[in-house]
Amino acid sequence: MSDELIRCEHVYKRFPLPGGKGEFTALSDVSLSVRSGEVLALLGRSGSGKSTLLRIMAGLIPPSSGEVLSGGEPVTDANPDVAMVFQTFALLPWLTVLENVELGLEARGIRRTNRVRRALNAVDLVGLDGFEGAYPRELSGGMKQRVGCARAFAIEPKVLFMDEPFSALDVLTAENLRSEIDQLWNAGNFPSKSILLVTHNIEEAVFLADRVIIMGSNPGHLRGEVNIELSRPHNRSDARFAEIVDRLYTIMTNPDVTIAATGETPAVLGAAPHKSPFAQPLPHVRPGGISGMLQLLAEHGAQTEDVAHLSDRLSITADDLLSLLEAAVSLKFAEIADGDVTLTTTGRAFAASSIQSGKEIFRKQLLECVRLFDSIVRTLEGKKDGTMRVDFFLDLWDEYFPAAEAQRQFETAVDWGRFAELFEYDSLEGVLRLHESTAGEAKIGTLPAPAKP
Ligand SMILES: Nc1ncnc2c1ncn2[C@@H]1O[C@H](COP(=O)(O)OP(=O)(O)OP(=O)(O)O)[C@@H](O)[C@H]1O
Ligand SMILES: [Mg+2]
Repeated sequence: MSDELIRCEHVYKRFPLPGGKGEFTALSDVSLSVRSGEVLALLGRSGSGKSTLLRIMAGLIPPSSGEVLSGGEPVTDANPDVAMVFQTFALLPWLTVLENVELGLEARGIRRTNRVRRALNAVDLVGLDGFEGAYPRELSGGMKQRVGCARAFAIEPKVLFMDEPFSALDVLTAENLRSEIDQLWNAGNFPSKSILLVTHNIEEAVFLADRVIIMGSNPGHLRGEVNIELSRPHNRSDARFAEIVDRLYTIMTNPDVTIAATGETPAVLGAAPHKSPFAQPLPHVRPGGISGMLQLLAEHGAQTEDVAHLSDRLSITADDLLSLLEAAVSLKFAEIADGDVTLTTTGRAFAASSIQSGKEIFRKQLLECVRLFDSIVRTLEGKKDGTMRVDFFLDLWDEYFPAAEAQRQFETAVDWGRFAELFEYDSLEGVLRLHESTAGEAKIGTLPAPAKP
């Protein structure tokens, strides 16, 4: 296609696992294109490989296999068609605003007079007129990110990459900068032909993008895409805006939802079924957090609650809310459809339960709905003393996650298992131990009846 600026074809990225334990797949079979004239958003949870994909497309790291083409040419080195705005502003503290903006131009061999002119224009464009001689320490976070934008704008790249550019800013500053970027884009005097925006903020994606590609985790892959068929600027009070946000919430909280494509573009689907129970990641939330959210929903009285409203009512990040919802859905405490979350009967019972009966409900759901817990408990039951070395389990997680994430998966599993009174972590012995009550139940079935005295 002639309007295609960058294209990824069957891109895989594997990182070696520490200690020579094989490889970790961060990206699996990613094919996509960035078209001229569009704002494309990559939406995905933390760890789904968004930044990795951006770095590969920018030519900063090579794919393990597959290919990236930019302007039809294979990308083998830093991609000259791309400039990047980072989440952390990455400014050099000893340089002024103008010098920081010039930096990227200098690296691309642009002559000094031309450099200064382009840098001044870019500084103007982001509203930092008058701050050319200021140093980063004199600037607020929002202004620093304006410098980050100006530095990329000055390069006038064909495609502007933005990796969570607003997530380090406070809510109002982020909103302000987001609208200004949108205004610049809509006014048609944007210094690049398209924008590739990485975000895990659903509303941000719907507000800014023409097309949203949804990434799934473990390994990172494309789940599908949604076209935002609204006229620009996208109006948040438009009912269709809310509909699209709802649809994306439904998709994002339910890894198994199949995404039907809208418009002319076919859906790209490729989620591999998880074989080992240790391959399916647990969302990192506390049982108390799940219970708190369910109670809030139950108190609310209504049968269903709009997920987007819920994110407003709880003072937690969108990513944390998604994790809580994912946990609630996977334990069958809640269902999500059309962007509305509804408590199941079990979810209502859990929300209304006392501590002890809550633990029982949680235990039952864990064993029935999350294969990992059944698998751990069976393993422990198979041992005479009901214990097993922690390394044994960590090795199983290590096959599917980088070391730090394997450790977090372990910690979350222990947290849930302890709450459910299934098993405990004995840090002195370095073992997981079956909880007394579970061990008791196991014995009833496995030991011969005691002889009568
Ligand atoms: N250099 C590396 N070596 C090993 N593993 C890596 C490396 N870079 C990334 N990863 C792993 O690849 C996975 C994807 O990481 P990436 O940073 O691309 O995710 P992301 O979607 O950008 O997440 P976030 O929303 O948190 O920024 C993660 O599990 C990460 O730990
Ligand atoms: Mg990232």
